[in-house]
Amino acid sequence: MGGAWFEVAYLVAIVLFIFGIKQLGKVRTAKNGNRLASLAMLLVVIGAVGQLSERPQSGVGAGVDWGWIIAGVIVGGGIGAVVAKKVQMTEMPEMVALFNGSGGAASVFVVLSFLANEISTTLKALPDSVSLADKMGWDTTLALALSILIGGVTLTGSVVAYGKLSGKVTGDAVVYDMQHQINGGLILAALVLTALIGWVLGPGAAMSVSVFLALLSLGLGVLLVLPIGGADMPVVISLLNSYSGIAAAMTGFVLKSPVLIVSGALVGASGLILTNIMCKAMNRSLLSVLLGGFGQTAGSGSSEDAREYSNVKSVGPEELAMMLEGVSSVIFVPGYGLAVAQAQHVTRELGDFLEAQGAQVKYAIHPVAGRMPGHMNVLLAEASVPYEQLVEMDEINPEFKSTDVVVVLGANDVVNPAALDDPESPLAGMPILNVHDARQVIVVKRSLSPGYAGVRNPLFEADNAHMLFSDAKVALQETLNELKETVGA
Ligand code: TAP
Repeated sequence: MGGAWFEVAYLVAIVLFIFGIKQLGKVRTAKNGNRLASLAMLLVVIGAVGQLSERPQSGVGAGVDWGWIIAGVIVGGGIGAVVAKKVQMTEMPEMVALFNGSGGAASVFVVLSFLANEISTTLKALPDSVSLADKMGWDTTLALALSILIGGVTLTGSVVAYGKLSGKVTGDAVVYDMQHQINGGLILAALVLTALIGWVLGPGAAMSVSVFLALLSLGLGVLLVLPIGGADMPVVISLLNSYSGIAAAMTGFVLKSPVLIVSGALVGASGLILTNIMCKAMNRSLLSVLLGGFGQTAGSGSSEDAREYSNVKSVGPEELAMMLEGVSSVIFVPGYGLAVAQAQHVTRELGDFLEAQGAQVKYAIHPVAGRMPGHMNVLLAEASVPYEQLVEMDEINPEFKSTDVVVVLGANDVVNPAALDDPESPLAGMPILNVHDARQVIVVKRSLSPGYAGVRNPLFEADNAHMLFSDAKVALQETLNELKETVGA
């Protein structure tokens, strides 16, 4: 039967990857999509191990060192399991950054060892006057060089992005003179080395230049991400996710592995689509993100705008309960603070309670609320909020005008009207949830401090707005208790 069975396993895995990624597009089906993709990954591992076991026992490429393979499965699987168990929901972007970096590292190491192995076996007798491209085909050698280049940038770029998000590296944009020229020069040099490996060099020189290209790419990853401010890091991570997929696809061309090509292309394409969606939602062009410098004026909550607020009216949970008593329509607007407070369950309880009292309850979802794509959807789904009550920004914005009470829960930038009417604001042009249009707005947060972009929010002093200074979970629990007492539930 030869190789047929593992090729079938790869084919099934490819189909599962495609269905899995499709299902990840909707909250309702996302969990299942994840399961399908994990199953596909397992099939690929089984197929790869099976493929290895069918290697000839003697001759070129014979034998398999099972000790290394078992150790790899145990160490890799073990780290993955422990990290996935320990990571907090709010740390997910950091974890994705490290996963992307691992993907980049895998591509670099796999193609370097592939090349070293080819040189020590099949290419051994080849003189350096014959180019690697002549022997292996220029498409393979070019893919090999691109895999090193993109994989290397992905590895160190992701580590810097992780450092910025976790606060281990400054979230500010690190800028210096001639930065763009230096980075441009290094990119050019890396492309020249890529072309040399792809078309010109013989095996020995190609190996040395490949190692040099790997080192250059590692340096480039650091230099390209350092100038980008913390505020843009999630976009960068999404882009690096795409890079890790492209590097994997290139590695797939080198290894002649269709399953790696397809899965890498899926990651590459979906990462690019997500990057585009995030740029639009933050009103940033990808080029301006990549050129960096944004975090100098904004980002990571470091406000430079210390103007005092005036006309701020604050209320307590009892007053919020009174406002909510007998309302006909309520919209909850979750933000990053809801995730920090872990207030999703009590939010749903309050929503259910109000619904039972006859109110129409909805949850407004901004595409970049929180710290990662789909953050609020995931959080509210975890608390079993019905999917039909989650309404996306474009759909819910016209509804605020006719809504009695809007409760903003730990959201700040995504409800900042300065984005609409202050052209000088770093948020200018970013689409927001128009909560200021509602009859009454209650903003639940602990203080007047700014959100992620580090900018002042005029909503806090709007005539129809009240602040409720508290941890979101505590505030909502007390509000719910008050309401229950009043209604006698
Ligand atoms: P933010 O603007 O970051 O504001 C969150 C607010 O939550 C803070 O002002 C904070 O105020 C409050 N908070 C923190 N802990 C709290 C708690 N325990 N209870 C109640 N409130 C708490 O959040 P947002 O409105 O969700 O906006 C997201 C921001 O992140 C945007 O600027 C967006 O561009 C950026 N961003 C998003 C993403 C993605 S993909 N989602 C990626 C990168 C960047 P206090 O300290 O006063 O409580």
